[in-house]
Amino acid sequence: MASLFDDLPATIRLIDAGAGAGALTAALVYRACQPDSGVKSIHVTAYELDSQILPALRRTLAECEALCRNRRIPFKASLHQADFIQEMAGRVSGDLFSATPPSFNVAIANPPYKKISTNSPERLALRSVGLETSNLYTGFVGLLGRLLETGGQMVAITPRSFCNGPYFRPFRVDFLNRMSLHRLHVFESRAAAFRDDGVLQENIIFHASNGPGQAPTVMVSSSRGEMGDSDSITTKLCPFSEIIHPSDPERFIRIPVNNGYPDAKKQLSGLPASLASLGLTVSTGRVVDFRLKDALRPAPERGTVPLLYPCHFNGGTVHWPKPDARKPNAILDNETTRHWLVPSGIYLLTKRFTSKEERRRLVACLFDPADVEAEWLGFENHLNYFHANGRGLDRALALGLFAYLNSTLVDQYFRCFSGHTQVNATDLRTLPYPDQKTLEEMGCSLQSPGIPREALDQLVEKHLHGIQ
Ligand SMILES: C[S@@+](CC[C@H](N)C(=O)[O-])C[C@H]1O[C@@H](n2cnc3c(N)ncnc32)[C@H](O)[C@@H]1O
Repeated sequence: MASLFDDLPATIRLIDAGAGAGALTAALVYRACQPDSGVKSIHVTAYELDSQILPALRRTLAECEALCRNRRIPFKASLHQADFIQEMAGRVSGDLFSATPPSFNVAIANPPYKKISTNSPERLALRSVGLETSNLYTGFVGLLGRLLETGGQMVAITPRSFCNGPYFRPFRVDFLNRMSLHRLHVFESRAAAFRDDGVLQENIIFHASNGPGQAPTVMVSSSRGEMGDSDSITTKLCPFSEIIHPSDPERFIRIPVNNGYPDAKKQLSGLPASLASLGLTVSTGRVVDFRLKDALRPAPERGTVPLLYPCHFNGGTVHWPKPDARKPNAILDNETTRHWLVPSGIYLLTKRFTSKEERRRLVACLFDPADVEAEWLGFENHLNYFHANGRGLDRALALGLFAYLNSTLVDQYFRCFSGHTQVNATDLRTLPYPDQKTLEEMGCSLQSPGIPREALDQLVEKHLHGIQ
């Protein structure tokens, strides 16, 4: 991370927010102490809340000072055992009791990550500086951006989740208006994954600088992220317009590290339809199981309807009930639950969370009422469902969508803007789609979902080329 900064300023004013034992500061000071760095003095400001780790942080700062003394570089450290968010938000917003905010020219961070609820003190503090964000880590990054002087640089390691998804949109807009992106590095290994509510996330390191004028290109790289694997980094220079599509109101940060992406993008950007123009919607399954606990049943019984989870996906179709499943198979159909159910019909379902082991980011599955007899259905919150105004789809259209979404082409396109494990309904809504006729023709030639992947890919390519 320390090596990702461009030339360091002669007079470094560094902020390390959530410094822990000071590993990142130490790495940066080590780089600054190299003979050709041009650095003449260093002032470190470190924030750390955890009193247990402070002795280790003090030791690291003392080592940094000793190293700088050796190199005759004046070194000063200010250690704050304080809440970075509360203290800096107060200073940035200029509240009555706070001093004016300091200004830094270098920021390095591995911030804490935790969801913050709408009325939490952190959220209120961040709101006071115009930052609306639901996670601590984006709060840290947003504040750091405000504390950097023009041209000041930041390198941070965070979960990748801020790059897409609706919740992080205000953060993305704020960040991209304020900062210029220079480098994005993604890790592909589980070993380096963050745990966020039990969901594995991909990590990202970014280098950005404060100030208007986004550079026309961004360096994008990836590595497996395992210990000792630092030499297998693949790097490429991408136009910024490929990272953030100029016409994308969501401001998704796409990271085209896979080789198939340029081709996939070219093919998909020529597609004429949107989900809305097809008269379809995709929604997240409406049954949140822990909120309807009393209504769940392990097996179908009188008065219940099928409740479908991703564990019922099997080779492209739904296999229900699953007697050995850890999840319930049924939900009571009554006055309380009916609101959360959908009328039976043909639906296309996708998993919201895929594991790293799964070859595909997008896993789509066809629900056919011919396989599961019921009048009403419960779709659980871990899946998304495509529907037409709350009702099922025409069979050929559903099969066409099935082929399209499960194709390698869409997978290649999709994986550059989605963190490894999560597929949001918004992601599916903003994807380009073939027109209705092409989808229906695709569906008619597919006939059944159970065909091998290669045959499905060929079928999709054939129909897409027919329209372009
Ligand atoms: C993910 S750790 C990173 C530690 C260190 N930067 C590193 O990379 O090894 C995040 C650190 O932030 C600290 N932290 C959490 N909330 C904080 C807050 N509100 N203000 C300051 N530090 C905080 C935690 O105690 C923890 O040491």
